[in-house]
Amino acid sequence: MTRDDLKALVRSIPDFPQPGILFRDVTTLIGDGPGFAAAVAMLSEKALAAEADVIAGIEARGFIFGAAVAARTGLGFVPVRKPGKLPVPALAIDYALEYGTDTLEIDPGAIGEGSRVVLIDDLIATGGTALAATELIRRAGGLVERALFVIDLPDLGGAGRLREAGVTVDWLID
Ligand code: PRP
Ligand code: HPA
Repeated sequence: MTRDDLKALVRSIPDFPQPGILFRDVTTLIGDGPGFAAAVAMLSEKALAAEADVIAGIEARGFIFGAAVAARTGLGFVPVRKPGKLPVPALAIDYALEYGTDTLEIDPGAIGEGSRVVLIDDLIATGGTALAATELIRRAGGLVERALFVIDLPDLGGAGRLREAGVTVDWLID
């Protein structure tokens, strides 16, 4: 399975969730057994090369890939959650999306001080979500040196923004 094969498994939906947005939908990729396995294997190789101590994934689609990578590599998984879901007082951060705003939260005790965290999400667009997750994980004591995505949307500049925050950014398809 090549990166082009993976790309062919991603569906593009015009005008979702708003007019003018061409939405890259990974539903079709994760619905394909060999495609999903290949994506997880490629991300896992990169996470191991980065000498991760733990994997963090961003709700919701980052959980699908992040948790699979954690299980494959034998690392633990830290969920970066949408608001109001954690059963303990959480660290929270507001951020801007390509469309709208949202909040992310993390359990302040989920990450050991100085632990090397590899951040995983399905897609980076403006980078707002990944930057917010990076900031939260750093506040919780983790080191975020590497972030991995299935898809980069290069026209939206997110990878560059994340790099400016000191994170090495890698992805499978653009
Ligand atoms: C999407 C995607 C990334 C983020 C990328 O998540 O899964 O997390 O947007 O956009 P950005 O780089 O411009 O911040 P969404 O907020 O739609 O949530 P979902 O995974 O729960 O559908
Ligand atoms: N697809 C999926 N998630 C997204 C997109 C997209 O094109 N843009 C911002 N988040």
